[in-house]
Amino acid sequence: MNTAPRQTVGPIVDRTFQRNLTSRTPTSFRHGLVGHPLLTLDAIAQLGTELPARSLSAEVGEKPLAAGSAAGVAVPVEDIAEQIRQIAANSSWFTLLHIHQVDRYQRLVDEILDGLAASSGLPASSLRRRMGFLFASSPKAVTAAHFDIEHSFCMQLEGTRMLGFGKFADAEQREEHVKGYWNGDFGRFGTLPEVTAEYEIGPGDGCYIPPYTPHWITNYDNTSLSLTVTFFNDDNENESLVQAFNTKMQKLGANPPAYGLAPGRDRAKVGFMKAYGGAKRRLRLGSGEPAGSH
Ligand SMILES: [Fe+2]
Repeated sequence: MNTAPRQTVGPIVDRTFQRNLTSRTPTSFRHGLVGHPLLTLDAIAQLGTELPARSLSAEVGEKPLAAGSAAGVAVPVEDIAEQIRQIAANSSWFTLLHIHQVDRYQRLVDEILDGLAASSGLPASSLRRRMGFLFASSPKAVTAAHFDIEHSFCMQLEGTRMLGFGKFADAEQREEHVKGYWNGDFGRFGTLPEVTAEYEIGPGDGCYIPPYTPHWITNYDNTSLSLTVTFFNDDNENESLVQAFNTKMQKLGANPPAYGLAPGRDRAKVGFMKAYGGAKRRLRLGSGEPAGSH
């Protein structure tokens, strides 16, 4: 049987990747998206004009790596296409959120994640709530330390930068940050976590960023274009549903056990949240916020 990874435009991984997904281990890979017609600077600038204003995030590029819950300094969006085209010189950091709202980008996100599923041996249907984000940032721009709740695949298209990973000091600190995330601080950090790994990523390089894993990115002296695609599977969907449930309980004054401490109750909470449709809306909101996202 031929076990070589299939040709795919997205992350080039093989079946061993399943273990890293399960254990939430950051993993570098190569990808085939450099030069893709939907991912050039001009194509990204054009997409900016097609997305609703709420899907455009513009901030000053240079910022501290860890500034707590303080929001980044917003840059007014006047002509998004022109601002993206001028990214080399305007010291900015643009995010196009939820690019899958536009059909041709939804097809690209699906092509990438179906390819990832095929080459890693996972059922494509297990990769759910698929989303895509495009980033254009100026030389020396920074993505401040944060964590996401999705499985994320960051793929560098242009420019080289450093992607750092860290870890929570202990379970208590993790729980505090999780609470902060669900109460709207976007998973940001006030002090940089202990560094566990660093990957220099240039065009054609990418990295799997596991859910609930602190990370940050610093651009070198060049502009950066990158694409991130994300999904939920049972692993992070169950955890985030329990957290959404617990957040509701905490607001009512209760002190429910954190995810993982009471598996029977976790299952009941997941069942409740799946039946209670609001969970899905909250998850979309949680993953769609501009500031720290991906
Ligand atoms: Fe992130």
